[in-house]
Amino acid sequence: MYKLGLIGYPIQHSLSPWIHERLLQKAELQGEYRLFEITPEDDFKEKVLELKEKQLDGFNVTVPYKEKIIPYLNDMDDIAKEMQAVNTVVNEKGRWVGYNTDGIGYVRSLENAYPDLFEHLNRKIMILGAGGAARGIYYALTKFGFAQIDIANRTQEKAEDIAKLGKDNTKTKIFTIEEASRHLDEYDLIIQTTSIGMKSVDLKPIVQLNRLNPETIMSDIVYQPLKTQILQDAERLGARILLGHTMLLYQAQYAFEIWTGMCPDVQEMEYELLAVLE
Ligand code: ATR
Repeated sequence: MYKLGLIGYPIQHSLSPWIHERLLQKAELQGEYRLFEITPEDDFKEKVLELKEKQLDGFNVTVPYKEKIIPYLNDMDDIAKEMQAVNTVVNEKGRWVGYNTDGIGYVRSLENAYPDLFEHLNRKIMILGAGGAARGIYYALTKFGFAQIDIANRTQEKAEDIAKLGKDNTKTKIFTIEEASRHLDEYDLIIQTTSIGMKSVDLKPIVQLNRLNPETIMSDIVYQPLKTQILQDAERLGARILLGHTMLLYQAQYAFEIWTGMCPDVQEMEYELLAVLE
């Protein structure tokens, strides 16, 4: 009987219980995935100690606790150390070990949708945004050794900070959003990682796509709305697109694998999740 869950705030609308209960079914494992909301008024330390007593097999960590959980862990994997942010914790015989699944989850979703992109490394990739998600995605893609991964962000220092994670085989240039807009036609893959395009925030895309090459893959990690304006525009211009909810699923698949050792196929869940989100 797997005891799994999520900490964060607010989490009442999280899709994780649906996803993980589906993964448990697919893996033919008994278990449950529960929400453990910790509000800003709560004593975080006290809540974490209570959680420890529940002896969960594993749990996810979401905003605003991805950094705050670190002092309570016994160990972290190399990626989480590099990110200094943890979104998945596994209980290894009472020891809590932290992982960060953002990058690997994204790369799995990309590989599944567009395996041809990985056939050679001479690719040019543009990441729009320099927040936590961009950091994980950049790091995971440099591990493959892609030729060029550029970053465009409103705040340049944050992009420069991410570029320090770079590997020798990957070149990185930092751009403003305006500069990036003028060069979008040069990229094989563009990854939109900012909150722009989210239902409650803004529907206008971060960049205008009048210069998009139809060979380009346009990816957005925002999944509400399902097909953001930038993806709609890209599709209209003939480009291939990658919807944000796929990252969510593959991240969950990787977390589930860390907890149970099993890696259920999530491809058919893409359609099921679409129905849940619509
Ligand atoms: P996450 O962890 O989900 O990636 P985050 O760390 O809050 O979220 O990062 C949000 C990203 O969206 C950042 O790149 C942010 O740009 P800044 O680094 O300049 O703050 C970007 N972003 C959010 N609102 C924006 C806006 N109105 N215009 C441009 N960029 C914006």
